[in-house]
This record gives sequence, structure tokens and C-alpha cells, in this order.
Amino acid sequence: MVNKVKRIAVFTSGGDAPGMNAAIRAVVRTCSYNDLHVYGIYHGYDGMINGDIIRLEKGDVANIIHRGGTILKTARSKRFMTVEGRQSAFDILNAYEIDGVIAIGGNGTFTGAKVFQKEHKIPFVGIPGTIDNDLFGTDYTIGFDTAVNTAVEAVDKIRDTADSHNRLFFVEVMGRHSGFIALNTGIGSGAGGILIPESKSDVGQLMDHLKKMATRKKLFNLVIVAEGNENGNAHELARIVKENNDEYEPKVTVIGHLQRGGSPTALDRLIASQMGYYAVEALTHGKSGVMIGIQNHKPSYIKFDDAINKVRKPDKELIQMASILSL
Ligand code: F6P
Repeated sequence: MVNKVKRIAVFTSGGDAPGMNAAIRAVVRTCSYNDLHVYGIYHGYDGMINGDIIRLEKGDVANIIHRGGTILKTARSKRFMTVEGRQSAFDILNAYEIDGVIAIGGNGTFTGAKVFQKEHKIPFVGIPGTIDNDLFGTDYTIGFDTAVNTAVEAVDKIRDTADSHNRLFFVEVMGRHSGFIALNTGIGSGAGGILIPESKSDVGQLMDHLKKMATRKKLFNLVIVAEGNENGNAHELARIVKENNDEYEPKVTVIGHLQRGGSPTALDRLIASQMGYYAVEALTHGKSGVMIGIQNHKPSYIKFDDAINKVRKPDKELIQMASILSL
């Protein structure tokens, strides 16, 4: 490695995601291998402003690769959105002589990093850590695979009771404005319908299908709804079905924050380790203002601007396939 930096700080920010600890571990171990000092900032940007920072050694990240959440804690900082907050954060980084920062988070985290870099000269590299998988330039974000596996496991359980009672269930999954979790959960759990923000026409089709099923007294069905679905969330859709069809007594399950916890899958551990390693390598090679992605198992370097602003949508063919397989 070409050592342009000597003291790297790492932090997690925004919603936690399983695999963030594996990324922190990879950052610390790669720094240690290259004789770089590494500091952990607690509670995201808030900790940067407050000076909530400690030196991390190799041993501090032992026994964490399998743990969900983040050992560095996280926050959605309001103070970092102010000029004064960012100035305080910069002063703290200077006080610790930090000359490179690794931010693990999602859209909000990289937006903060971009604004910060316009005001202050300090190299920043991002690692995509969000269960939503909504960042441009990477095949996966850390936590997505675990979230989908958790959701599929939950839907499998709901299937048992739904089938036994001949009932319709609307299961709502997370994803903010995107439908990646819902699409993969729906395909993986063999759902009868998948409603995502990226494919608006599906609601009418689903209602027709449910009507037909009801005439045959087949009321068992599982419908996965993305929380950002523009035609209504799981509760609203259940209400519409009930109002338009006496036969149905739809049940609703919102999986919620269950999806954010738990031990990361092997895939999440793998990509988190790769991203942590490549983030340190990028900083030491003079890269800055980029997010590390993994595309076809290889690293990619995406400008913060592109990662934030270019819209990543689920593959159209996959959506088409899901609708063929479901109904
Ligand atoms: O971005 C991750 C995510 O879990 C989204 O899927 C969800 O909309 C949001 O965070 C929930 O945020 P919070 O935990 O702050 O309510």
C-alpha cells in the first residue's frame, strides 16, 4: 500500500445493518496490518461533534464478525446538518490528527460526507451499510441479505397459520422508498403478490386475482408489501380488500425492526469484509469522496454524488418473473 494517510477514523451512521461489525473489523485489521492508527467514533456524526472517539486495536474487534448491530453505535445526527456542527466535527478530527475517514452508512451518511467535504479538506471514503440496498453502484449493501433472510423466515411461519386458516395476509417489509427487500422476500417466500414502489400497476391485478380466488373460496394468500408502496401500506391494502370483498378477513403483519437485527449472513460478512478492506486501501491510495461498491465480486469506486443521486431500481426482468411466478 502507498501510505498517504496515517490516522484513520471509522464510524457507523443512519440505520444499523447486520454486517456493520464485520466491516469495522476489516477496517481495523487492514489498518493494523499496514501500521496505520485507527480510531472508532461512537454514535455517528454526533460522536464526531462530541469527540466520542477511542483508539481501536486489533483485539478490540475480535469476536464481533457474527454480531448484528454496530459496536460503534449509530445515530441520525441533526447537529451535523448545521454549519456549526460540521465545524465542531472538523475541529475534533483535527485534534486527533485524523487524516482519513471511513463512513459506514446509507444515503443520509454520504450526503453528510459530501457537504462536509465541500467545507473541509479531509479524505472521506464510504461503505454502503443499509438493509435497503438502494445505493447506486453496488450489487449489495451491507445488511440487505440478512434482512431478506429474516423476512423470508418470518413469512414461512406466517404461511403455516395462513394456510391452516385459509386466510389472506399482507406482510409489510422495510425498504424506505425502494422495493428490493419486498421483491426478494416475495420471490424467496413464494408469495402470491408483491407490491413495490417501482411497479405501480400491480395493485389492480392483485385485487382482480383476489376476487377470483374468493369466488372459489380459496382465501389463503400471502402478499408482500414494501413500506414505501405508493398505492398503500399493508394496513391500507387490507382495508381496501375488506371493503370490497365480504369473504376476506385479511390479517396484517408488519415485520419492522426485526429485519434490522440478528447475526449477519455469510454473504453480508463477506461483502462487509471486502468493503472494509478496500476502503482502507482506497484511502491509502489517495482516493476520496467515493463509496466502495462490490460489483461482480470486485470493488468499484462510486462518487458520493452518484451513489446518492443516481436511482437504483430492481431489475425489470426480475419484477416480471416475480409476477409470473406469484399469481
Ligand atoms: O434505512 C433503513 C431503514 O430500516 C428503512 O428501511 C426504514 O424506512 C428506516 O430505516 C427506519 O428508520 P428508523 O429505525 O429510524 O425508524
